[in-house]
Amino acid sequence: MITTLRGMKDILHEDSRLYEKIISVCEDVAKKYGFNLIKTPHLEQTTLFKRSVGESSDIVGKEMYQFIDKGENDVCLRPEGTAGVVRAFIENKLDKAGGIYRYFYHGSMFRYERPQKGRLREFHQFGVESFGVGSVYEDASVILLVAEIFNRLNISYTLKLNSLGDSDSMPIYRQKLLNFIDKHKDGICDDCKRRREINPIRVLDCKNEKCQEIYKNAPVMIENLSPNAKSDFDKLREILSTNGVKYEVDTKLVRGLDYYCKTAFEFVSDEIGSQSAIAGGGRYDKLVEYLGGKASYGIGFAMGIERIMEILKSKPNEQKRDGIYICALDEIGLDKIFNIATNLRKTHKVEVSFEAKKLAKHLQTADNKNAKILLCIGENELKNDEIWYKNLENKDEKTIKMQNLKDHL
Ligand code: HAM
Repeated sequence: MITTLRGMKDILHEDSRLYEKIISVCEDVAKKYGFNLIKTPHLEQTTLFKRSVGESSDIVGKEMYQFIDKGENDVCLRPEGTAGVVRAFIENKLDKAGGIYRYFYHGSMFRYERPQKGRLREFHQFGVESFGVGSVYEDASVILLVAEIFNRLNISYTLKLNSLGDSDSMPIYRQKLLNFIDKHKDGICDDCKRRREINPIRVLDCKNEKCQEIYKNAPVMIENLSPNAKSDFDKLREILSTNGVKYEVDTKLVRGLDYYCKTAFEFVSDEIGSQSAIAGGGRYDKLVEYLGGKASYGIGFAMGIERIMEILKSKPNEQKRDGIYICALDEIGLDKIFNIATNLRKTHKVEVSFEAKKLAKHLQTADNKNAKILLCIGENELKNDEIWYKNLENKDEKTIKMQNLKDHL
């Protein structure tokens, strides 16, 4: 048997219903916040991710689906969405045009990670990216947008918040952190030694317990913020509090990607085990320039759809019955129900059974398919130009004249 690759999954049945529900809520909220759909390719030049996500990240260091294509190009399946959207922003000259641009996207991302519950090699994200707004109100809007999505989906979360400082605070903090790391260089792991060389702040994110013990005493970014970064961070906290969004300041939250500055945040859930991050994002004011564009503000987030699906699956099924299931008891009724279905499909969701069988069997199938209404034709109904009707929600059942059918649907 040919199977899916390790860490990859089909989405069907209950999962596809949940997938559609999540995307429709996300899209609705994002549109209300002024974001528009953007679609970028799944495959990009490898350099794009090396330069944006960063050499110190696990994503670039260990997890890229990278290969040389038939034209000898070094290409990579996208491990995340931000880099491609920023590339599109620059390539379409929106940086030079100036103004404000807000996009949302959803689709497959690929990371060659060790698969486990909640961690896949192909997974789906919904995300937004906003360009051109430096005001901290935009940071607050993006966080409120994520909170609104989770509220609508009835998902509880903890919001972790940090500031990674700006170009005025970072060099001073970086030097303090380097001094600290060097004092403890014999105790830290090899990954941290590598991170020290490329992006020292990423050491704070290390999962090694011995390292974590050491970093408990490391200098803290939010105590070393420039006046501008500090006032933005204070203002962000104030806006979130005023709007009833609870958060915890987590000074070790640096995120797994190198492009962030100032605001960094993560939404975590205690309902899905160790892979608890359900959404994450932050500000990236240097990224556009770094990828060759004209300096432009940027902020965004992305959420993992499969992790949200896991949470929703563990909740009581609130699935509503939907659509019509139409069937016949005998072969002779098939022409009739086929014609009725074709007609009803102009306005209703209709599933036809082309198998003549007993009513009890049809009722069972309609129930499994979660239909709301069952319509059935037997010999008598055919003779009298009638149809048998059952509402599977309120159990109402009756025989109705064909010409009155639409009034009952
Ligand atoms: P990220 O934190 O790497 O951020 O991923 C965002 C979300 O994707 C995570 O919180 C998690 O829910 C989900 N996720 C990540 N890896 C996996 C995996 N292997 N399996 C299942 N779900 C996963 C980003 O990707 C940034 N581009 C977010 C962003 C947008 N920042 C600014 N704009």
